[in-house]
Amino acid sequence: MYTELISHKIAELKKERKAVILAHNYQLGEIQEAADFVGDSLELARKAANIDAEVIVFCGVHFMAETAAILSPEKTVLAPEPKAGCPMADMISGAELREFKARYPGLPVVCYVNSTAEVKAESDICCTSANAVKVVESLKSDTVLFVPDQYLGAFVQAHTAKKIISWPGYCPCHARIKPEDILNLKKHYPKAKVVVHPESRPEVTALADGVLSTGQMVTYAARADVKELIVGTEIGMLYRLRKENPNKLFIPVSEQAVCANMKMTTLPKLLASLENMQTVVSVPEEIRRKAVGAVERMLKVT
Ligand code: 13P
Ligand code: SF4
Repeated sequence: MYTELISHKIAELKKERKAVILAHNYQLGEIQEAADFVGDSLELARKAANIDAEVIVFCGVHFMAETAAILSPEKTVLAPEPKAGCPMADMISGAELREFKARYPGLPVVCYVNSTAEVKAESDICCTSANAVKVVESLKSDTVLFVPDQYLGAFVQAHTAKKIISWPGYCPCHARIKPEDILNLKKHYPKAKVVVHPESRPEVTALADGVLSTGQMVTYAARADVKELIVGTEIGMLYRLRKENPNKLFIPVSEQAVCANMKMTTLPKLLASLENMQTVVSVPEEIRRKAVGAVERMLKVT
């Protein structure tokens, strides 16, 4: 009843403020239900760029809301929980990237969208987990600097003839997934397919039928030949997979794969965000102008 009341108030305020709610696939079920659109980083970036709204309430982590603010400076972007960050995005600073580039003069920089605006501003092009290989392949150079995720970098390396020089960042949540987790589950569910996120370690991705972004997992799960699916990513993903495929079996690879930051946004915080128009996410114009080129170049490639 309480949830219904909050949801009703959110819907009313959303109309009043001409707002849309975007939510990442890892968000709590209650947030996914309240959202106008749920998706992966690439899908959400595209929505943020094209959607007709005055306000975007971004339920995810900070870099996602920041990307929306980079793409749509004319819109007000709100983060219901401003403390929800991405530890991997914080593993490289703008100054560290400048030093990295100085060590390899002339090489292009591909930055995973899980990065700060300052890092995007220092990069040639962004990528997400859905398009990283295509983005790297789109570049002329046969050697590429890749930041900050070493495991996504390793995944790209396995799919391109170009040489990838990666920054040693990683996602603490996906790094907790172990090959044994998958091997044990495969024994129990021999007919199940296995999908994992490319932020996982190479010894984990090696065991998967599909190494996919969260949006690509949604498409994979809907396939007629998929009846049982072992899911190697943050466990919030299971909510949407089960909702959209009620007759299929979804098995999380590890109950340890929880992104605490993705769980910080709750329905009361979403309501408060719309009521008080907080917290506004903005990027200093000088950084935004440099960062937008990297994001827009990515959107043109894919
Ligand atoms: P996706 O773009 O695949 O949704 O991944 C985002 C993310 O942060 C995964 O940890
Ligand atoms: Fe960042 Fe990992 Fe959380 Fe994704 S799951 S937001 S990469 S910490």
